[in-house]
Amino acid sequence: MSGEPLIEVDGVEKVFDVRRKAGFMRRERREVRAVDSLTFGVPRGEMVGYIGPNGAGKSTTIKMLTGILTPSAGRLRVAGIDPSRERSRLAHRIGVVFGQRTTLWWDLPLIDSYRLMRRMYRIPDARYAENLDRCVELLEMEELLEVPVRQLSLGQRMRGDIAAALLHDPEVLYLDEPTIGLDIVSKVKVREFLRDLNAERGTTVLLTTHDLTDIEQLCRRVMVIDHGRLMYDGDLDGLHELGGGERTLVVDLERELPPIEVEFARVVKVDGVRQWLAFPADRSAAPLVAEIAGRYPLADLSVREPDIESVIARMYAGGASLAY
Ligand SMILES: Nc1ncnc2c1ncn2[C@@H]1O[C@H](COP(=O)(O)OP(=O)(O)OP(=O)(O)O)[C@@H](O)[C@H]1O
Ligand SMILES: [Mg+2]
Repeated sequence: MSGEPLIEVDGVEKVFDVRRKAGFMRRERREVRAVDSLTFGVPRGEMVGYIGPNGAGKSTTIKMLTGILTPSAGRLRVAGIDPSRERSRLAHRIGVVFGQRTTLWWDLPLIDSYRLMRRMYRIPDARYAENLDRCVELLEMEELLEVPVRQLSLGQRMRGDIAAALLHDPEVLYLDEPTIGLDIVSKVKVREFLRDLNAERGTTVLLTTHDLTDIEQLCRRVMVIDHGRLMYDGDLDGLHELGGGERTLVVDLERELPPIEVEFARVVKVDGVRQWLAFPADRSAAPLVAEIAGRYPLADLSVREPDIESVIARMYAGGASLAY
């Protein structure tokens, strides 16, 4: 294989023509630019997080990468294939999970959906058995196989969908919110499974999620999209730095006092005896702690690293382009 990225997105746009009623007999036409001059590449074997606020264009991107939607402009290649032109040929190379919607047959037991897929994708018997066994074991699905899909819980159904996406050994797996609505135990299970899949099989993964823990635990690289545009493409650390590079000292005093005044830190919140002080992430907390302890009646304290959640929230709110 050459060094070409497995997924190539070059200047891609998607404009939807939306018509809606605007009074009696009148219809208004409006263009929605869901994806705008989007460019990125994903090398084979990478697991990339693709995040952004509601309506940012994430699902639209994934639909274009599967061939469900055709781009309005630009160039797309997945494993060298133009997705919308050769959608069925591409289907043998990719797997996709839409967390919000199942690809399984609602009224059939899970195993029947899998058998149908084996036929659809012409999966050789030995490979089918091996892949199914692996998923059943790692996703703990033994008890679920004979259950009709409509009777499965959300977490069970999601595991069923993930297995379904992998029976034909895809090189690329798109996951559009695979942990949405799952409880913490199910999330952990799904994350472990994906991490193993990527490490052991080298499956390339594009992961969309609103749960930033998914990203922190699975992806070294993260892309942030907003209003259809790529706002950030880089590692998680870089995103942290963009977030202002501040840490927080949480101080519990012995009694309620006015905001603490110390050099290099500022109080960002007060709640009873507890005060939160932001200070530059590249400064040691020790002198700060010493000074506060010397001048204030200190009961307890802890240092908090900037969490990705607040970094992203600030990015979404700011709307500034951070990609370049
Ligand atoms: N079929 C469609 N017709 C018209 N507009 C659409 C269509 N699909 C998506 N859009 C619009 O395109 C924009 C991007 O939608 P998209 O579903 O890609 O967002 P998203 O990033 O997946 O959001 P979420 O986090 O809510 O899933 C939105 O403004 C949406 O309303
Ligand atoms: Mg979406």
